[in-house]
Amino acid sequence: MKNKLYLAVLFLVALIVYTACKKEDKIDDPNGGKNGNDFIYDPTPYEFNFPGYFPTILNIPDDNPMTVEGVELGRYLFYDGRLSGRTHPDSLMSCGTCHIQEHAFTTGINHPVYTGGHPFGLTGIPTPQLTMPLVNLVFNNNGYLWNGMIHEDNPNLGSAAYGVEPLPEFHMRNIESLVWMGIVAPHEMYGSVEQTVNLIASIDMYAPKFQAAFGTPEVTYERISKAIAQFIRSLVSFDSRFDKYLRGELQLTEQELHGFVLFSTESGADCFHCHGGAQNPLWTTNLFYNNAKDSVFTSQTDPRDRYAVTGNPKDRGAYKAPTLRNVELTAPYMHDGRFETLEEVIDFYSDQLVYSPYAHSLMHKLPDGGARLNPNEKESLLAFIKSLTDHNFVTNPDFSKPDDLP
Ligand code: HEC
Ligand code: HEC
Repeated sequence: MKNKLYLAVLFLVALIVYTACKKEDKIDDPNGGKNGNDFIYDPTPYEFNFPGYFPTILNIPDDNPMTVEGVELGRYLFYDGRLSGRTHPDSLMSCGTCHIQEHAFTTGINHPVYTGGHPFGLTGIPTPQLTMPLVNLVFNNNGYLWNGMIHEDNPNLGSAAYGVEPLPEFHMRNIESLVWMGIVAPHEMYGSVEQTVNLIASIDMYAPKFQAAFGTPEVTYERISKAIAQFIRSLVSFDSRFDKYLRGELQLTEQELHGFVLFSTESGADCFHCHGGAQNPLWTTNLFYNNAKDSVFTSQTDPRDRYAVTGNPKDRGAYKAPTLRNVELTAPYMHDGRFETLEEVIDFYSDQLVYSPYAHSLMHKLPDGGARLNPNEKESLLAFIKSLTDHNFVTNPDFSKPDDLP
C-alpha cells in the first residue's frame, strides 16, 4: 500500500518535471531538439521470438533499427485516423482503415463500407488492386506491393501508375516509403505530408512517444514513416495449427495431412513451388508469377503487373504469390479479387487454368487445364490451407488498435 502511494507520488513528480521540461524545450529550442535534464534516451532493442525454423535474414534498414518504443509509437500512428492530416470524422483514415487485424491486415470481404473488400480513398477513388496482408513482411527481401515495385534497387523514385508523382526525398525502396504513398495517394488518404506532420505534432499524447522512440519530441515525416515501418515489421505470425504440428505440439487430422501431401507434390496439386512448404514456413517464395488466370489479351492490359516493373515480356500478368498463411481470413482472392472463396480458388487451380504464352513454367498442370482434383481431394486441400490460420496473430493485443485512440 505504502509502496503504491510512493510510486504514485513519484509518478506525479515525474509528470510535473516532464511537463515543465517540455515547456522549456518549446521555449528554448524551437526545433524541440533538447531533452531537458531528466530524460535519458535509452530505447529497448526490439526482440523477435519466432521459432527456429523461420528464416533468419531480416529486412530491416540500417537507419531504422527496431526498438520497443519505436514499434509502440508505430502502432499508434498505424491506427490513428488523423494520419490523414484531417480531423473531420468523415476524413479520418489510417493504415488500419484498410489493413484490418482480424483479416490478417487485409480489408476483408465483409467490410461494411468497402463492398466486396475493395477499398477506396478519401476521394472515393478505388485502390487499383486489392489490399495485401501485412504478415511476416520483415522476412521479405524481394520487393513490396503486388508487382514488387518497392524494392531495394528501385531506380524509380515514385510511380505515376499509383497516382503519385515521384519525389526524390521519398525513395520507394522499403516499407517506410509506403507511408508516404498512403498519405498522398488519391486512392488512399489524398493528403499532404506537411498537413499530417502538423496535425500529429499538435496532439499532446505524441510528444512523449516520439521522445521515447527517437530521443526528442520532435515530429517529422521521417520519424512517422520509420515508426510505422517498425510496427509493420513486428507483425510476425508463427502460431497456426501447422506451426504447432511442425513444433510437435499437436497432430494434424488425416484430412489436413492428405491436403498437405497434395499441396507439396507435383503429382498432386503442385502448389509448393510458388507458395512454400514445410521448408518455407512463410508459405510464399515472395516471387512473381503468372498463374494462368487469363488469356494473352486480358493479361496484357494491367499497367501494374510485374512487367511494369521489369519490362520483361515474360512478366506480363505476373504478380506476387501471396502468402497462404491466414489466407482463410483474407478473401476476396487474387490481386483483383476475382474469387470470393477458397473453394473457388481451388476449383480454378483444379479445372480452370487458361493458356497464354506468359503463364509461368511452374504451372505444370496447364496442359491439362488444372490439377483435376476430385471432390475429396479438394476438401483435403482446403482443410490443409485452413491449418495455416494463426488465430493468435489476429487477436494479439500487441498488434491491435490502442484503446486510447479516438
Ligand atoms: C485505402 C486503403 C489503404 C490504406 C489506407 C493503406 N493501404 Fe496499404 N495497401 C493497400 C492496397 C490496395 C495494397 C496493395 C497495393 C498494390 O500492390 O497495388 C496495399 C499494400 C501495402 C503494403 C505492401 C504489402 C506487401 O506484401 O508487399 C504495405 C507494406 C502497406 N500497404 C502499408 C500501408 C501503410 C503503412 C499504410 C498507412 C500509411 C497503408 N498501407 C494504408 C490499401 C491501403
Ligand atoms: C506458378 C506459381 C503458382 C503455383 C504453382 C500456384 N500458385 Fe497460387 N498464386 C500464385 C500467384 C502469382 C498468385 C497471385 C495472383 C494474382 O494475384 O493475380 C496466387 C494466388 C493464390 C491464392 C490467393 C491468395 C490471395 O491472398 O489472394 C491462393 C489461395 C492460392 N494461390 C493457392 C494455390 C494453390 C492451392 C495452389 C496449388 C493448387 C497454387 N496456389 C499454385 C502463384 C502460384
